Amino acid sequence: MLDNAAIRAQFPILAQTENGHPLVYLDSAATAQKPLRVIEALDRYYREQNANVHRGVYGLSERATDLYEGARGAMGAFLNAATPLEIIFVRGATEGINLVASTLGKLLKPGDEILISAMEHHSNIVPWQFLRDERGIRLRVIPMDERGVLDMDAFRKLLSERTRLVAVTHMSNALGTINPVREIVDAAKAVGALTLIDGAQAVPHMPVDVQALGCDFYVLSGHKMYGPTGIGVLYGRMEVLETLPPYQGGGDMIRSVTFKKTEFNVLPYRFEAGTPHIAGAIGLAEAARWMEAVGRQAIFDYEHELLQYATEQLQAIDGLRLIGTAPEKGGVLSFVIEGAHPHDVATLIDQDGIAVRASHHCAQPVMDFFGVPATVRASLGVYNNREDIDRLVAALNDALEMLR
Ligand code: ALA
Repeated sequence: MLDNAAIRAQFPILAQTENGHPLVYLDSAATAQKPLRVIEALDRYYREQNANVHRGVYGLSERATDLYEGARGAMGAFLNAATPLEIIFVRGATEGINLVASTLGKLLKPGDEILISAMEHHSNIVPWQFLRDERGIRLRVIPMDERGVLDMDAFRKLLSERTRLVAVTHMSNALGTINPVREIVDAAKAVGALTLIDGAQAVPHMPVDVQALGCDFYVLSGHKMYGPTGIGVLYGRMEVLETLPPYQGGGDMIRSVTFKKTEFNVLPYRFEAGTPHIAGAIGLAEAARWMEAVGRQAIFDYEHELLQYATEQLQAIDGLRLIGTAPEKGGVLSFVIEGAHPHDVATLIDQDGIAVRASHHCAQPVMDFFGVPATVRASLGVYNNREDIDRLVAALNDALEMLR
């Protein structure tokens, strides 16, 4: 059983007060807080280990290189990649998707189709729209129902020999829906399509095994899984990565350069131009080790129980409507309350020390589907507990008295 008090004690920021109240942080879907272990790894790197990687022949640079490549190994193990060479460090899930769009995009032809879903984050919509506008590919959208569950029959009907890529989220940031990605990958494979899974929201909350999923690409953001900002991973199946043209040009991604001709480096360096975010990769690997130490299944089970409690408590509030009620759901509670604008609600409860996000959550098509401009979103991390939910509910009730 997970020891929530011991976990909370590892997050210095949670000991802070906000507007005179102990901070209740319920915005982990936007970014998670960082445990001491991650903060210390970053501090240690800059104090004792900083040097550029893959370049120096002196000891400090060799040690920094070992740490950076060790981080790649740790992230490979975290996702169960077949080899660490399938792990490309990027700025975050957004850059991972853009990398695939920009490289794979060069291989697509007018009339090729890409399927995304109705619940995607803007980062899994806009890069494909660029391709639609630049290369004449067709972008098609898998519909969902009013619970926020994908229509798998409609998905199967959309698949055809024209489908080149299916790009869907593992867990929706706006609704919390956990999608049946294994089933989606299997169906896509049956028509010869590639698959990209946006795991930015899923990875912090559950075990993920890319080989078991069978996907071709999987992206994650470090800062949502208790790691630093500005670092993430694009996992790509070796066989597929080998077919892709380079992404950005620059140092480290080349084998040799003359003014006439450049030969590119082997994987994964071919996709990592320039000095990488060395400290970020090291901090991210530490976050992965921290999550493993807590137990990824234990995190999922703990948050699942807390989600059920929070759902019951919120549903008791007069006029509250949950947006996203899929049976398979992670720790996201998106809601609107009759007679109260989401931004007013979030601003008022901040006075009680409660941090939630009120916005379209970078998923405007989801808001359009549910006919709301925005929602209030409370999102869970493993440090949250029932007391946080009780404080949220009390603050919401106080806010509603003022607003109504
Ligand atoms: N994508 C992040 C969120 O859902 C920023 O809040």
